Amino acid sequence: MVFALNLPKLSLSGVGAVEESVAVLDAQPVKKAMIVTDKNLIELGILESLYAALDSKGFDYVTFDQVTPNPTVKLVDVGLKFYQDNHCDCFIAVGGGSPIDCAKAIRIVASNDGPITEYNGVGLVKNEGAFFIAINTTAGTAAEMTSNSVITDEVNHVKMVLVDTKQIPNVAVNDPSLMVGLPASVTAATGMDALTHAIESIVTPGAHRLTLPTALEAVKLIAQWLPVAVKDGNNMEARAALADAQFLAGMSFNSAGLGAVHALSHQPSATHNLPHGVCNAILLPHVSALNAQTAPVAYRPVAEAMGGDTSRLDDRGAAELAVELIRKLSSEVGIPSGFTSLGIETADIDGWVQKAMDDVCMGGNPRTLTPEEVYGLYTSAL
Ligand SMILES: [Fe+2]
Repeated sequence: MVFALNLPKLSLSGVGAVEESVAVLDAQPVKKAMIVTDKNLIELGILESLYAALDSKGFDYVTFDQVTPNPTVKLVDVGLKFYQDNHCDCFIAVGGGSPIDCAKAIRIVASNDGPITEYNGVGLVKNEGAFFIAINTTAGTAAEMTSNSVITDEVNHVKMVLVDTKQIPNVAVNDPSLMVGLPASVTAATGMDALTHAIESIVTPGAHRLTLPTALEAVKLIAQWLPVAVKDGNNMEARAALADAQFLAGMSFNSAGLGAVHALSHQPSATHNLPHGVCNAILLPHVSALNAQTAPVAYRPVAEAMGGDTSRLDDRGAAELAVELIRKLSSEVGIPSGFTSLGIETADIDGWVQKAMDDVCMGGNPRTLTPEEVYGLYTSAL
């Protein structure tokens, strides 16, 4: 059986990666970049090094700063008009998942027919589109190197998950100096998202020996460095480790797939506009405990990568230890233990179950879940 490993053509990691990416852009046959970002990042000065590098090369650009969390179909349309009106011919996304996903979607509709809703699904994009640099500012979604984008269809209240290798940016940039200013809560949420990527890609039947080593290294780095970065955002060693960890997790899940944690977390995130990483972190121990009943052996290396001693434990015991260590890490970095504290009520769950069952990520789960089990997972995560 053939295994497809999907990666960006070039990844730049480390302090100075932004400047290096501009040198790469300058060598391309393109003239004017559309920078896709949000106002907050501009106010924080995160784009200063990029602007300075572009100015030093005399490279023309315009900034589209209207991206909001959980970008919508309408925002993609507005972004397309901006791209066309300004006669741009390449993209630079700067941000976490939202600006990068928004840029992926604008790039699709800029070089393919029809609205972005026509590309909701797997492998529907025909033309790859313009040269695209994705500069990551969180650690994170790994959006700077994955085939996925998540766009909210605000009319039908659905989070569309667009999956196509043609969405992978040409250049993925992880410069930890852009991440030092991230608040502790965002550091914690995005770090737990990356941990979820790593763990789901380890336990999925889609896992492969080409993906497992990077996922396990990601788990190890996150368990070691996430509490450090949450306590001290200026610790560059921790920031650099987490930037690479989330990229390593991306290298794994982008080819192996995800599972029920993401399938379930997309729903409260869509209806209550909650941070993706927080929803994942709350659901991860509950889904893992249930999955471990079916595939306990898959969780043993997770426990070990998180620093657990499994030498005297059978597979079930090692899986229980993994769940315990996930809970401990989540609590240590300040993630709420349940959805109730975020304003979720039991009545909210009914509308989520079928959408979670239909979510594109559900197919990768190691245990085939029933709607009753999904309802039970949501209830236990309250
Ligand atoms: Fe995620």
